[in-house]
Amino acid sequence: MSLVSLWEFYIMEKVNLAEKLSSFSDYFNPRIAGELNGQQVKLVKFKGEFIWHHHDNEDELFYVVKGSFDMQLRDKTITVNAGEFLIMPRGVEHRPVAREEVEIMLFEPASTLNTGNIENELTRKELNRL
Ligand code: NI
Repeated sequence: MSLVSLWEFYIMEKVNLAEKLSSFSDYFNPRIAGELNGQQVKLVKFKGEFIWHHHDNEDELFYVVKGSFDMQLRDKTITVNAGEFLIMPRGVEHRPVAREEVEIMLFEPASTLNTGNIENELTRKELNRL
């Protein structure tokens, strides 16, 4: 099997979100679950407060698979529940806060760093694939 057909075979596998999400338990550490057109589908769990940050060049989509979280913006807070998604436009400061564990699917350019313009102990530069 050539590399190209191997890759096509790989991406033709369907993904079960609950199954993938049950394979890890740490927070604020996104995994790559798929890739298309330079964008990545990532799975992540949040619990607690993340940090204020923004992304200069990327818009981010947060789709809640299970649970809910608050997306804090400088002028308001948006609660996102299971079955809903929120798009954060580039340049807009945001901070996700989850009182309880929440399971999230992210859709964003592969170049997107989880902590955006900030680098600290929460920054994840190398993401594992599920
Ligand atoms: Ni962000």
